[in-house]
Amino acid sequence: MKRILTIVGARPQFIKAAAISHTIRDLHRSELEEDLLHTGQHYDDAMSGNFFRELDLPQARYNLGVGSASHGAQTAAMLKGVEEVMLSEHYDGVLVYGDTNSTLAGALAAAKLGIPVYHVEAGLRSFNRAMPEEVNRVLTDHLSHRLFAPTETAVENLRHEGFADRVVLSGDVMLDNLLHYSQIATIDKSLPERYILATIHRDFNTDNQDRLKSILAGLCDAAERLGCKVLFPIHPRTRHRLDSMTDKPSMEHFRTIEPLSYLGTLAALRGCSLVATDSGGLQKEAYFSGRSCLVLRPETEWSEIVTAGAAVLADADRSRIADEACRLWNKRPKEPSEFGDGHAAEHIVDEILRSI
Ligand code: UD1
Repeated sequence: MKRILTIVGARPQFIKAAAISHTIRDLHRSELEEDLLHTGQHYDDAMSGNFFRELDLPQARYNLGVGSASHGAQTAAMLKGVEEVMLSEHYDGVLVYGDTNSTLAGALAAAKLGIPVYHVEAGLRSFNRAMPEEVNRVLTDHLSHRLFAPTETAVENLRHEGFADRVVLSGDVMLDNLLHYSQIATIDKSLPERYILATIHRDFNTDNQDRLKSILAGLCDAAERLGCKVLFPIHPRTRHRLDSMTDKPSMEHFRTIEPLSYLGTLAALRGCSLVATDSGGLQKEAYFSGRSCLVLRPETEWSEIVTAGAAVLADADRSRIADEACRLWNKRPKEPSEFGDGHAAEHIVDEILRSI
């Protein structure tokens, strides 16, 4: 029996980990034992506990409870806590997801102790080093033993960086999840009839008042022109920034709600006619759900979706947001073919078992 330590900490990682955790539990229980370590990067129930319950994730064996801090302080606290756990137990491998500070801390602690690192969602690049996630991605890929790339583009990025021998084209576990859970998600009748589903949480949008106001104004203009609402599940950081503004932007046409659960997000996607977001995960979920998407960033690591014509880079440009919203409203993209066969988790666990 081999033992693996899975490191999670932030909302999108709970979703990704569910696909792999269930595959280990249902298909490989006798060969692989998984322990879950939660760094505590996200801690509000709406950002963490709710996902564990809804996705039936095993309870974390360790919770470091690091909470919020500056990037350096947060990553350092995680690194120290993760290393202590790795020293106190024997693990044959460490599994990390995506590009958050929890990902980097887990990969770095393991690599320093000589424990093989398996990186799910490897090879993503926005080519914008000002994003903390881009730094986390590059470093985590360079520390990893096996790189599970969700798309051909990700494989290509890793080849360019000299890692062809470590790459496995696995497909995307988010597609696995969406296919599975959209059968369970119900229609939410309390949602507006016509709406844009919008989320904003990146620091370069929330912590820059001009950008934040311009995005909100663009969405407001769009809603006015389309005669619809903007459904706005709000990240705690975005709420704090809006609360502390003296010169508050107009939120007419907005329906602001608490952060949605995973199933809540799927239901909201099903009911919407357009998505506007700076989240990487929601860009993909929109595409998988047959909805067009305005990306509230100047670039994206999910370039396939833009190439497919299902997303546009609207950045924080007020008039572009409003114009593109009108153009893409109710426009259904083609079926996605770039993100694997919906069995990425099985391919990943098979490869882990072969190489561990
Ligand atoms: C983190 C990830 C980002 C991911 C996102 C998903 C990094 C660098 N960023 O960003 O890649 O897309 O998670 O949501 O790791 N806060 C709360 N309660 C919580 C969590 C956060 O109030 O449970 C507030 C705090 O004010 C905190 C701020 O949100 O300072 C930012 O949280 P943090 O985890 O640092 O980054 P995210 O923006 O959530």
